[in-house]
Amino acid sequence: MLQDIGKGQGVYISTYGCQMNVNDTERMYALLEMVNYVPVESPEKAGLIIINSCSVREKPVHKVHSEVGRYRELKAANPRLKIGVGGCVAQQEKAKLLKDIPVLDFVFGTDAIDTLPQLVAEVAETHQRKVSARFENEKPYATETMIRNPGVSTFVNIMKGCDNFCTFCVVPFTRGRERSRQMKELVTDIRALVARGVKEVTLLGQNVNSYKSDCGADFGQLLRALAEETDIERIRYTTSHPKDFNQELVEISQKYRSKICDYIHLPAQSGNSEVLKRMNRGYTREEYLDKVHMIREAIPGVILSTDIIVGFPGETEEQFRDTLSLVREVGYDNIYPFAYSPRPFTKAAKFTDQVPEADKSRRLQELIDLQRGISFELAREFDGRELAILVERYKADENHLMGRSTQNKIVHFVPPVSAEPEQFIGRTVRVKILKAFPNVLRGELIV
Ligand code: SAH
Ligand code: SF4
Ligand code: F3S
Repeated sequence: MLQDIGKGQGVYISTYGCQMNVNDTERMYALLEMVNYVPVESPEKAGLIIINSCSVREKPVHKVHSEVGRYRELKAANPRLKIGVGGCVAQQEKAKLLKDIPVLDFVFGTDAIDTLPQLVAEVAETHQRKVSARFENEKPYATETMIRNPGVSTFVNIMKGCDNFCTFCVVPFTRGRERSRQMKELVTDIRALVARGVKEVTLLGQNVNSYKSDCGADFGQLLRALAEETDIERIRYTTSHPKDFNQELVEISQKYRSKICDYIHLPAQSGNSEVLKRMNRGYTREEYLDKVHMIREAIPGVILSTDIIVGFPGETEEQFRDTLSLVREVGYDNIYPFAYSPRPFTKAAKFTDQVPEADKSRRLQELIDLQRGISFELAREFDGRELAILVERYKADENHLMGRSTQNKIVHFVPPVSAEPEQFIGRTVRVKILKAFPNVLRGELIV
């Protein structure tokens, strides 16, 4: 062991928030394993506990407080136990977290993940409480993917940060300025993942279509390079911003359709142009709908999902109706609906016309009810269809294989008795859908 910082102790990380955080947690585990920490499944078994926090909505600081509170007894029983907070709340609150939560040992920001082993070593050696939460905006973003046991499908960060400053959103403050990885590096990275058995990558960024490699390549060119120069079978990406979704990207998605998946998450946030303007989204309702039509024309059968905020400051009942009508008009397979929640540092938090909580909850419920009907209806269109499924897992207790279609539909099917179920993992097979529900399609293998 090069640096035996962990001495074989357990490390437990709890994760909140988006896929970026999920991927960051995996990186933390990988880095800590290299210095002899052993990942464990429960905090009781750990000598090091980390909370990878999210601050995008609702009382995030509270959540950190209450989770750390649960570990107070563990710490009393084991004074050597170290507890840290990382992620977006850490970046947002920095030293204030240490001040407010006495049982906490260290706080590290979203750009401090790669120095986590050193930070943990310092805390363990000196018994001093530490904060490391500076943005690394000067250094190039060169973050080779670190995944301990990549499965069939894996996340790959292509860029970090966000420069869009939507008026409701804390992310530009918790993730800093946009920085992209080099295209050449990403090709090498993904080739290495393919060599380890990965069949599908999901390219991650707060705004993937702002991607810009130093060589000048943009997101479309990156997709082309990955499709042409690697043997990856499927490429997904999230999240793309409607204002940057252009014709070139659509053409590339069409040209490399065998690899680039038929599923696009395109957050609309609202269906009213006035609200969109006050959100600083950079598009109107009509422009958003034009993009949807452009995408659907080029990629028939493409599946769309979206994020919606209800009760943004000043949103009238009528403006909310425009959101409902947009949701109806587009016909999303799935939506992620949120009630607006004021965030620190953001412009909208200072808007004086905040919507009462009761109105927000009512609107949220109405939106959820509308989408439930749409999702059921759209799911039915999958009944009887034959889909190419990339198999990811075998669930022995339920005896079914689980995989996804190019449209990101989760499909369950029973393996044939004549074969070992595990041999299907990583293979793309044809499945006929027998019964379609909004969240899962049940089918049978076509042999
Ligand atoms: N970069 C992504 C979104 C990241 S945050 C994009 O631009 O689409 C994920 C989602 O959380 C957002 O799309 C938005 O719908 C929601 N969200 C962000 N800030 C919010 C807030 N203050 N209140 C409620 N929902 C919010
Ligand atoms: Fe937040 Fe807007 Fe950036 Fe998305 S694009 S992360 S919503 S500021
Ligand atoms: Fe949350 Fe930070 Fe992701 S605020 S949604 S963990 S970028």
